[in-house]
Amino acid sequence: MKNKWGKILFGGDYNPEQWPREIWKEDMRLFKLAGIDIATVNVFSWALNQPDEETFQFQWLDDVMDMLHENGIHACLATSTAAHPAWMASKYPDVLTVDTKGQKRMFGRRHNSCPNSPAYQKFSTKMASVLAERYKDHPAVLLWHVNNEYGWRCYCENCACEFREWLKERYGSLEALNRAWYTSFWGHTFYDWNEIVLPSSLSEHLDANHDKTAFQGISLDYDRFNSDSILKCYKLERDAIKAVIPDAMVTTNFQGNGTYKPLDYFKWAKELDVVALDTYPTNDMPMSRIAMRHDLMRGLKDGAPYMLMEQSPSQINWKDINPLKRPGVMRLWSYQAIARGAESVMFFQMRRSVGAYEQFHGAVIDHCGHENTRVFQECTELGQELQRLGDTLLNAKTSAKVAILFDWENWWSIEHSSGPSARLRYVEQIEKYYDALYDHNIQVDMIGTDTNLEEYEVVIAPVLYMLKPNYANKLEEFVERGGTLVTTFLSGIVDEHNLVTLGGYPGHLRKLLGIWIEEIDALFPDQSNSMVMVGQHSDLGIEGTFQCGHLCDLLHTEGADIEAVYGREFYAGKPVLTRNKFGKGEAWYIASDPEASFLSMFLKRITERKKINAILETPAGVEVTVREKEGQRYMFVLNHNDKPVSVHIGEEAQLDLLGARRIHGNTEIPEHGVLILQTTQSITSGIGERQ
Ligand code: GLA
Ligand code: ZN
Repeated sequence: MKNKWGKILFGGDYNPEQWPREIWKEDMRLFKLAGIDIATVNVFSWALNQPDEETFQFQWLDDVMDMLHENGIHACLATSTAAHPAWMASKYPDVLTVDTKGQKRMFGRRHNSCPNSPAYQKFSTKMASVLAERYKDHPAVLLWHVNNEYGWRCYCENCACEFREWLKERYGSLEALNRAWYTSFWGHTFYDWNEIVLPSSLSEHLDANHDKTAFQGISLDYDRFNSDSILKCYKLERDAIKAVIPDAMVTTNFQGNGTYKPLDYFKWAKELDVVALDTYPTNDMPMSRIAMRHDLMRGLKDGAPYMLMEQSPSQINWKDINPLKRPGVMRLWSYQAIARGAESVMFFQMRRSVGAYEQFHGAVIDHCGHENTRVFQECTELGQELQRLGDTLLNAKTSAKVAILFDWENWWSIEHSSGPSARLRYVEQIEKYYDALYDHNIQVDMIGTDTNLEEYEVVIAPVLYMLKPNYANKLEEFVERGGTLVTTFLSGIVDEHNLVTLGGYPGHLRKLLGIWIEEIDALFPDQSNSMVMVGQHSDLGIEGTFQCGHLCDLLHTEGADIEAVYGREFYAGKPVLTRNKFGKGEAWYIASDPEASFLSMFLKRITERKKINAILETPAGVEVTVREKEGQRYMFVLNHNDKPVSVHIGEEAQLDLLGARRIHGNTEIPEHGVLILQTTQSITSGIGERQ
């Protein structure tokens, strides 16, 4: 991101259209008090901006924009297209989506437009263009926010027609399509493009949640198509803005804490000038889960800083039970994002609504309307702190030597599959490996299949079920050069069409891993097997027995060393952990789903062997990451515990940026407290051996 703003932005969604003008003045006073310097405006005001097809009315927005500018506040200007007006739904019903059961929605809620509706595309593009013309020279505009939390799926006839076009483009011929979809199964051969229907609960899907399907190939292509269709809407608006303002900075906000299944965010990120994340962790969510998603947001654009576009300053409203964020937690989670690459801290929302769905959603300004609240005070303190930090952290990079692969197409593919276990959840598997490294304070990059592997010493690719063309070669080159690869059960099984690679699993990974797999056993949730470590002559140095379960591959080695064998079942004594030396590196295969203590030990050993060490040894619940810039190293130490902890930060004095003091040795961090320690000491990529 070429950062135009000179400090970490602080602000959030501001909906003055819900309020009388006398309140606006008070808002400005309160914003200034809290150090707010950015407001996202015009997110849901399409109906206000365009009361009918021909009329546009922007006086209110002109006034808001002028007011923001006069008060020194940037605008993150949204295009208002995330909720179509009621008149549009009634006059052009094709804007309304159809659900997986074939029911056409009526006007209501938001995020409600069909991505392939000609009317929606026309009107949303027009709106983006009109807004760009009107505000192209407005000094308040800092960046453009297209739509809001794009997503979901539509099964209407327009989507079906576009799907057929998308398929023609992808396959060229019905023969190729029939091959890719394996339509010789259950008599599905298509002779005319028009025979193809969308894979919904009325056609191929076995339930309404879009997982299990009779035809994985069809469903997978629909996933790609749906993500692409929605992306096309984003691109139409973005291009309309850029046609007027070529150097406009354009983004849209990603939902689902960053792991939103329907949209391939690696593909999307290529079209965004800066990635923007909405994050709403619940109080009971392990902090590693959120850390992983922040790392993923940084990984989407190869390490570029991203924006924290939305978080709640306090509680959310959309769960059954919505507890308050405890004192200090909003600040702590804000720094967690900054520590991992975010360059803004923004809230939903600035002022708590009077009515409708979000009237109890946390806001910077509460219903009482004044500044004497805990939440407002905490926001103000953070706002002031970010002002003091200035540009210190901007563009500081996070560099890791360990990468975890995350691939949306693989995710779709695994969960469409009808076996061996429907309980397998891709993201959960990723989290297990991430958690082990997180607990050791080892920095990780979350990478996609396009990411260059040259920078990494260790690449972990859990459940790499789908191998895209040439990806096995990429992994081979990585290992050949000296890299360590860790992959697991159910890898290398299918190609990009979800067709099995014949000749023995793990298909194209067979040579690299030095194994072949004959059968895959699936265990009931209350069953387990065990991994008995047998590599006595190995330098891995892990002994004993560990639990494993879920799936168990029955494999034969073809050159790989056996490091552990199953302890039970008719396959007791067969390999469950193997290591294959390949070129200058090695490739590990974990043939089952091991208990956390094994992964913790295993990944510690694997990384130690590559001289990758903990950034800092800390008590449990204390998160540590590093960002670096111009020879300066910024170490973030975050205490997620509900009690103070003592952390040994080393004997050399370090500058505590937030406390403006030099500290060393044992340092107490209060509950939910944060330290940012600045040193000039150079350290290889923030991890590894000291120089
Ligand atoms: C999302 C949306 C916001 C708001 C918040 C509430 O992030 O983008 O408009 O609804 O959720 O948590
Ligand atoms: Zn549709």
